[in-house]
Order: sequence, then C-alpha cells, then structure tokens
Amino acid sequence: MAAADIAVRLRGLTRSFGAVTAVHPIDLDIPRGDFLAILGPSGCGKTTLLRMMGGFIEPSGGCIEVNDADITHLGPEHRPINMVFQGYGLFPHMNARQNVGYGLRLKRIERAAIAKRVSEAMALVRLEGYEDHMPAQLSGGQQQRVALARALVMEPQVLLLDEPLAALDLKLRQAMQEELRRIHRAIGGTFVFVTHDQGEALALANRIAVMKDGRIEQLGAPEDIYLRPQTHFVASFIGEANLLKGRRSGGMIETACGLTLADTGPDGEIALVVRPESLRRLAPAERAEIEAGGRVEEIVFLGAHVRYVLALSSGERLRVQDPVEQPRAALGDVMRVGWSRAAQRIIAA
Ligand SMILES: Nc1ncnc2c1ncn2[C@@H]1O[C@H](COP(=O)(O)OP(=O)(O)O)[C@@H](O)[C@H]1O
Ligand SMILES: [Mg+2]
Repeated sequence: MAAADIAVRLRGLTRSFGAVTAVHPIDLDIPRGDFLAILGPSGCGKTTLLRMMGGFIEPSGGCIEVNDADITHLGPEHRPINMVFQGYGLFPHMNARQNVGYGLRLKRIERAAIAKRVSEAMALVRLEGYEDHMPAQLSGGQQQRVALARALVMEPQVLLLDEPLAALDLKLRQAMQEELRRIHRAIGGTFVFVTHDQGEALALANRIAVMKDGRIEQLGAPEDIYLRPQTHFVASFIGEANLLKGRRSGGMIETACGLTLADTGPDGEIALVVRPESLRRLAPAERAEIEAGGRVEEIVFLGAHVRYVLALSSGERLRVQDPVEQPRAALGDVMRVGWSRAAQRIIAA
C-alpha cells in the first residue's frame, strides 16, 4: 500500500513493566479511514498498546509514525491523535459543554469558534440540550457521548477508543455501536477501537487485529478472521468453533473421531475447525462431503436455533446449530451431521 494511504505505522513497538512484557514488538500499518478493532482477552496488552499510540505510555522500544512523521516521543497534546479512555474520565466539576470544550480552551482557540465546534460535536453525538448538565446528572450512555464529543471536537486524524462501550448495558451498547459507525462514516477519520468483545469487533470494524499475550495473532477483515482463523486461539476466541484433533501424514488426515480425508500440508498434529452453523443434520440416507455422528448429550433452545451437543466416539464434543423448525431430536439419540469441505479449516494444532 502506498505510504500516503497509511495513517499510523507501528514498527517494533514494545513495552515492558519490570519483568512483564505487556506488548511484544508489534509491526502494524493502519490505513487511513480504517475502523480497526484490537480484540483480545483481558490482560493481553490492548490498553498498553493504545496508550503508547496516544502518548500516555512511553514505549520500551520501537516507533510510531502518523502520516509518515515520527511521533514516538511527542506528548499527547502534540499528536494528531485523541483518545477516549476506559471509564469516561470526565471532569466532574465541569458541565457537558465545559468538558467538551476543555481541549480547545487549552489551545487558546477563540471563544466563538469554541462555542461553534462544541455545538457541532454535541450534535454529532446527539446530545443537544444537555450542554448544561453535570456528569453526575447524565446517564452512563450520555456520559459516554460527552467523552466521545470531547475527543471528536479536537478533530483528530486518529481516534483511539479503549473499551468505550464496556460499561453500558446490552441495548445501549448496540445503539452506541450504530452511533459509532455513523460518526465514523460522517467524519471519515481513522478509528482504533479496543475491545474484549468479539461480537462488538465483528459489528464495528472493517479490520480486526486479534491479540494474545502481547502479540497480534491474526490481522484481517472480520470475514477473514471468522471464516479463516489461522490459529487455535483465533478460532475459539471469535465465534463458536468445533475443534477436532487429528494428525496429517503423507497428505492424509485422520482425526481422533474417525474421519479420514485427503489434505496437502506438512505432517504433524492438526485441528479441524468447523462452526456449529456450518453443520447440517443428515436424514438417514442423506450424504455430505464430510460426515460425523454422535449421541445427543445436550439440547439448548436458543430462539431461532436449537443447539445440540453431540458426544463423539473420541470423547470430543460437536456443537450443532439446527433451525428451530426442524423436528426435535431427544437426549441420547444418535445424530448424523455433515458439512462441506469449504466450511472447514485445517490448522496446525
Ligand atoms: N502500569 C503497569 N505496571 C505494571 N504492569 C502493568 C501496567 N499496566 C499494564 N500492566 C500489565 O501489562 C499487561 C497488559 O495490560 P493491559 O495493557 O492493561 O491489558 P488489556 O488492556 O488487554 O486488559 C498485564 O499483564 C498488566 O498487568
Ligand atoms: Mg484494557
């Protein structure tokens, strides 16, 4: 990709705290206009990575470029970057308008210009009419919007968001996800969004970086990450996945549960990954490219689907998602399921 299309470039960016390496050296290019989600479990280094980008934590090594300029050692206020913190970090003694205008006042921008930009930012997050409210008089979702407006009003080229929706309840979180998508479309900047919630990452981002133990395990479009996980961790962290253990030798795979299939690749331990929604219940004479069978051990009604857990001969479990209108199987029944080769991934175990 041409250098001009890259908003943020990280090279060997790393940070240790004493003996703990929170972020191992990371190389990452973030294209301009991206909505990138950094997704990973608690403690994997997401906040540390984001705070280094924002200028709030000094890296132990490596560099950060924005628009081809090295900003590694610039203070946060000198970066074309703004950050919305985990929790909201509003000033409790300032009303919404004063909170949002704070950064502009520091920059000694003229009063009339501040008033105009603050109104625009409040409108963007749909908080008109709440200008005089103190943070304590606002709901969690409204405080979140004030925090967002406070960052957006600075017109950053890059907006960093650290789990901004984590404190909201489900309905509000979904509404704010839509708001964030709308705001990103409206202002067209580069957003980097940290979350431990895979559903949120899939819903929001056009690219996802999956992090584990201070490293990026996989980077790609949501579809790539979901349909073509490259590691065990990514397969099990994003969505639900069945993992069947096996071995590849001389271009043939044999799984512990008794499947045999041709597959080119190096000899060694593998896992066959297939999503519950890719499995189809087979009628007695029906065939599929890949077939497996087991005893129904658990049945969960999920509304639109019924989830069956099958116990395989290997002792492994296979989760199957079946449309609710299908005749219901019973506990202890033998169920045959099938899937297509295109629906499965083979990964190194
Ligand atoms: N200021 C600090 N001092 C010591 N250890 C820290 C500090 N900040 C983070 N860590 C450690 O670095 C690792 C990554 O933390 P963090 O970046 O907050 O992860 P995440 O945001 O993904 O939950 C954790 O092991 C955490 O305990
Ligand atoms: Mg964090």
